[in-house]
Amino acid sequence: MFLVFTCSMFIIWPSLLLEAVGSQGGHDIYRPPQTVRQHLFVMEEFRYLNVSRIGSYTVNDSIDCAFKCLSHTSCFSVNLAASRGMDGKFWCELLSSDKYRNSTELLGKKSSHHFVIKSPCSSSPCKNEGTCVPSYKYGIFECLCKKGFIGDFCEKGFKSCKDAYNSYKSNASELVTLHFGSNTTSVLCQMGDFGCGDGGWTPVMKIDGNKNTFRFSSGYWTDKSEYNPSGGMTGFDSQEAKLSTYWNTPFSKVCLGMKVNGQMNFTLITSQASSLHSLIADGQYRATSLGRYKWIALTDSRVELQLNCNQEGFNTMANRRARVGILGNNEDNCHTCDSAIGFGVDNRGCGGLSSIRAMCYILVQ
Ligand SMILES: *[C@@H]1O[C@H](CO)[C@@H](O)[C@H](O)[C@H]1NC(C)=O
Ligand SMILES: *[C@@H]1O[C@H](CO)[C@@H](O)[C@H](O)[C@H]1NC(C)=O
Ligand SMILES: *[C@@H]1O[C@H](CO)[C@@H](O)[C@H](O)[C@H]1NC(C)=O
Ligand SMILES: *[C@@H]1O[C@H](CO)[C@@H](O)[C@H](O)[C@H]1NC(C)=O
Ligand SMILES: *[C@@H]1O[C@H](CO)[C@@H](O)[C@H](O)[C@H]1NC(C)=O
Ligand SMILES: *[C@@H]1O[C@H](CO)[C@@H](O)[C@H](O)[C@H]1NC(C)=O
Repeated sequence: MFLVFTCSMFIIWPSLLLEAVGSQGGHDIYRPPQTVRQHLFVMEEFRYLNVSRIGSYTVNDSIDCAFKCLSHTSCFSVNLAASRGMDGKFWCELLSSDKYRNSTELLGKKSSHHFVIKSPCSSSPCKNEGTCVPSYKYGIFECLCKKGFIGDFCEKGFKSCKDAYNSYKSNASELVTLHFGSNTTSVLCQMGDFGCGDGGWTPVMKIDGNKNTFRFSSGYWTDKSEYNPSGGMTGFDSQEAKLSTYWNTPFSKVCLGMKVNGQMNFTLITSQASSLHSLIADGQYRATSLGRYKWIALTDSRVELQLNCNQEGFNTMANRRARVGILGNNEDNCHTCDSAIGFGVDNRGCGGLSSIRAMCYILVQ
């Protein structure tokens, strides 16, 4: 993104350059007047920018050096001798780069001052260690952000894997640091279509059906505390986890996955919310309409889901309860269900209520 600034510095240069002419004579160390340092160049005292030169001259004074740079379209900064040579002149090197682009090449040197044409970058507009790249001609700059940051000034951290996907434009899953206010968390972003469609998928929970950490009545469904956050960095394995994305990450899609006997299957719920916490923690039933076969397809053929009731969604609650799931009954009502498939199903972390124990994953986008 380019930002345009009104640029008056080219107009004030000639008068300021004249002020600099005053300092001549002897072999004194050359110090340009304050006005020049403030308005024309940014001076780096006793510094030398070690990048390739596009011209080398001996000049009578700093003004000659400055004009030589200005008349060269690809000159962005100069190194100038700190004191006159035996011939009464200064050496002057024109450079095609600057300290903003090649900050590591700015070296200390007693015999040199470095001057960079003042640009919008002088005010260090790029946050989070972003690199400012000036364009002197139009008084424009661009921030090249460090990995993990976005925005015109690199002022925003990724809030979700969707942000990371939109920024990286890659289908390669990778570890990404997400920023929630001043807090950060690292997660393995699942990029691309592993079963729920394209894009960047943010992991939220990983639940082991052999355990009851995330049973229906667990406080983890209603509170804002993490469980084993390092499990958010290891993908579709068997570590359980609840990440701070549970209450921080907004989404329009929820991806549910179950791994049974090494086979993973996923299904997609289209549902918009400010976080998964906001859909679940209040205990309100929120219906979904996947249909019983999509829930059955998450598991395997051994699963039992009786034909009736079929109440599905978030906080399904009858005599059986699931944080996300579907209830089934042999009788034609929802009061006496004895089968269910879901996440946080009664005392089961995940899977089929009576039959299947699954390793389960919830991701959002
Ligand atoms: C200056 O840069 C050149 C080439 O990039 C390098 O070989 C040299 O060591 C650098 N000089 C100093 C003093 O770092
Ligand atoms: C200066 O930075 C550019 C990229 O911004 C890089 O290509 C170049 O190698 C750097 N030059 C030196 C001498 O480090
Ligand atoms: C530098 O000074 C010498 C003598 O003082 C003069 O002849 C020459 O034209 C000057 N060079 C420039 C570029 O002003
Ligand atoms: C990711 O892969 C899908 C096809 O599976 C493709 O349509 C999409 O453009 C890819 N995205 C990127 C950023 O390469
Ligand atoms: C950051 O973490 C602290 C401690 O876990 C918590 O109290 C605070 O609310 C969090 N801030 C945000 C913006 O999530
Ligand atoms: C579950 O996923 C496997 C691949 O892992 C696939 O072969 C199978 O058809 C899927 N089952 C259903 C019901 O979609």
